[in-house]
Amino acid sequence: MTAETSSAQSTSAETASAGLVPAPNSAGPAGGDGFVLDAATTLYAGPGTGTTERWLRSTVGAATGLPFPPGDRAAPGGITLLVDDTLEPEGYRLRTGSGTGVEIRGGSAVGVFWGAQTLRQLLGSGAFRAAPAGGEGPRTLPAVTIEDAPRFSWRGTMLDVARHFTQKTDVLRFLDLLAAHKLNVFHFHLVDDQGWRIEIKRHPRLTEVGAWRARSKWGHRGSDLWDEKPHGGYYTQDDIREIVAYAAERHITVVPEIGVPGHSQAAIAAYPELGNTDVIDTDALSPWDDWGVSPNVLAPTDATLRFYEEVLEEVLELFPAETSPYIHLGGDECPKDQWKRSPVAQARIAELGLDGEDGLQSWMIRHFDTWLTARGRRLIGWDEILEGGLAPGATVSSWRGYGGGVTAAEAGHDVVMCPEQHVYLDHRQHGGPDEPMPIGYVRTLEDVYRFEPVPPTLSPEAAAHVIGTQANVWTEVMQDRSRVDYQVFPRLAAFAEVAWSALPAPAERDFAGFEARMAGHYRRLDALGVAYRPPGGPLPWQKRPGVKGFPREGAPPNV
Ligand code: ACM
Repeated sequence: MTAETSSAQSTSAETASAGLVPAPNSAGPAGGDGFVLDAATTLYAGPGTGTTERWLRSTVGAATGLPFPPGDRAAPGGITLLVDDTLEPEGYRLRTGSGTGVEIRGGSAVGVFWGAQTLRQLLGSGAFRAAPAGGEGPRTLPAVTIEDAPRFSWRGTMLDVARHFTQKTDVLRFLDLLAAHKLNVFHFHLVDDQGWRIEIKRHPRLTEVGAWRARSKWGHRGSDLWDEKPHGGYYTQDDIREIVAYAAERHITVVPEIGVPGHSQAAIAAYPELGNTDVIDTDALSPWDDWGVSPNVLAPTDATLRFYEEVLEEVLELFPAETSPYIHLGGDECPKDQWKRSPVAQARIAELGLDGEDGLQSWMIRHFDTWLTARGRRLIGWDEILEGGLAPGATVSSWRGYGGGVTAAEAGHDVVMCPEQHVYLDHRQHGGPDEPMPIGYVRTLEDVYRFEPVPPTLSPEAAAHVIGTQANVWTEVMQDRSRVDYQVFPRLAAFAEVAWSALPAPAERDFAGFEARMAGHYRRLDALGVAYRPPGGPLPWQKRPGVKGFPREGAPPNV
């Protein structure tokens, strides 16, 4: 028997449930003896709980070596999964004990799944391995009752696979990491100036040309270094279907982002007629090898609109409405210089009587808002879509701070709060010189833990429009999976608690208590093979001595 197994066996109810991340609403001893899981432990999956049944066998079953043979509802004592619609749809009640076995009741299939994530945490860090690590004997769960439900319905993470491509298998792993933290929205940033990453059959050059760049900036603005290795990759349509299905099995919504009209240089490199051909030689463009905001934006022509409708037709087919009600159309950082100089753009502004270039951007977003609404989808965009007037059906990702989100919420639009000053996980985790290619503000684990998505100044009506929050992972200086792991963890665990748990106001949050629970959570991340930033700072191979990033000074105040 390993030390870990024996410690799990001797764990009291209090310490077992106190180790949960994110923290549940309530957890306490149920009285009586604990429950021993062994090879005879059965699994009864009530109607509608198939995703959790499959996940428990394939994940917890693989880690523990326990087969979980099918159980009988009439003979409790094993693991029982039930939908109980007296609970909130994402809520669950988990009870363990010698008489009960393990019973997970969820308000829907989703709540049952989150309850199973909690069960895995109660089983000890060995339950996060891919196979038994040896000495796996019976496992004793303490007798506990846990009642839980999330604070927000949108608990998101955005991954930028455009600046650096994430292999499909690593996207699947990322989804598993989201599920382990009860995060339920995967914002898939699929296209940008530096790469187009989704196969579009009707426009094959988007990936033939747009998915590859000759070299990449090594570091950020202050750096004059280059990685001369060609970079690229894309997901075939079957890859996308697989990712969407894998997410759906984990009750994760995928929000694909196809950005317009800025951040479009890779698309213009593939199809030069999409750019402002009356202003620049778009034939000379290739997917960008540098970071920042490219001046090369889409031309506001009917042909461009048709082209993107054709792209979106395939996107809607690949991301079905049931699991992807939202389509993100970007809208951020669209420099207006080319439109100012373009006779074509100026003629369009005059013809439509628009309010300058901001009005032109707003007209494009409104066009797709109408187009998506007619197809039963909802448009979401970065907060620049407020400029020139918000499209009627739009939801806003508030990234430049809280301001855009406040304006949108007060106007009755739904909002996802993701201010860069707080939850951009590309930003550095420490002010010291050892952070690899340091970007942005210093945002420690504690800073993220004290992030509050809902400004207290909002009226209750406006606050109800804050449907949730999201951490964003931009990958300009994250060249591979371990760099992504380093930036994302452990802070995503703190973010998950902000998104899920009923925490008090930022200053009153028990960060010391969270840190104490993190001691156990690091062991789970170790078992999962996550290359997080250790509390003491980067390990030697996690540093990038001398490579400049783009740090910003100051400590942005919380709300
Ligand atoms: C963004 O960070 N440009 C949304």
